[in-house]
Amino acid sequence: MADDKIPGLVPLSKASLKLLRGTARKEPELCFADESIAAYAAFRGHVYNPQSVLYPSCGFDASPARVFPNVTFVDIDIGGNEGCVRKLQEAGLHAFRQDIRDYTPQELHDLLILLNPCIRTEWASRHLKPGGYVLANDYHGNASEMHRQPEQFTLWGVIDSGRDGNRAVVSRNLEHLFEPVANEEELRTFRPDYYAFLNKIFRVMAMNTPDFNADGPFEEVWARYRGIMSEGMPSKRVAGRYIFIKNP
Ligand SMILES: C[S@@+](CC[C@H](N)C(=O)[O-])C[C@H]1O[C@@H](n2cnc3c(N)ncnc32)[C@H](O)[C@@H]1O
Repeated sequence: MADDKIPGLVPLSKASLKLLRGTARKEPELCFADESIAAYAAFRGHVYNPQSVLYPSCGFDASPARVFPNVTFVDIDIGGNEGCVRKLQEAGLHAFRQDIRDYTPQELHDLLILLNPCIRTEWASRHLKPGGYVLANDYHGNASEMHRQPEQFTLWGVIDSGRDGNRAVVSRNLEHLFEPVANEEELRTFRPDYYAFLNKIFRVMAMNTPDFNADGPFEEVWARYRGIMSEGMPSKRVAGRYIFIKNP
């Protein structure tokens, strides 16, 4: 008797059998991240309760739907996150497979979420009401981009995660954000964790990149590293998420 025809067991579909036998790639599932959900709940509770949220470049991340009732997900849905829009739609969420540059909303949104979006802020912020909020991280430079455009965006505050990831703290303290450190001493003082991380990274990079020389004083190795990575001096303080307002 075939293993898929054992009496009393619900027969498995061909697709499920393929998965069980390891002959098919397991499709990624939607992700609901505790850390993001805590940040959105903190935003709703302490900053603003949005009526219409736009989340472009969402991939499989459905986290905002746990907090906000009206979220529009938009993803170009090619490359690494193929299938994400179908998954979001199957879960009953409002999702479009589209380049955000071609998206045309019926009405402007009042919160824009930008998390590792691989897109320029402006491609999405044009769909935001004046006075609307942007909740962004800086992994792809979106927060820095808005900070460089004070005529268009005002930095309102930040949201950071507690160590356990289930707690989020909203702060209006903007001190030292986007303020570059001047040297090694400032880096060690303001960002001790990042300083320790860099020391490790230099050693790993030297193993993997023959052209990279990790010998010498920290300042010199760091300058070589920034050159290879095309990075400027890091900020004295960074946040998990930055809250901006689109100026009226
Ligand atoms: C690095 S993933 C980030 C996914 C998710 N926001 C997260 O943080 O886990 C970037 C996503 O942006 C999408 N994307 C890239 N360019 C886009 C565009 N022009 N319009 C819409 N989505 C785009 C990709 O398909 C991919 O799903």
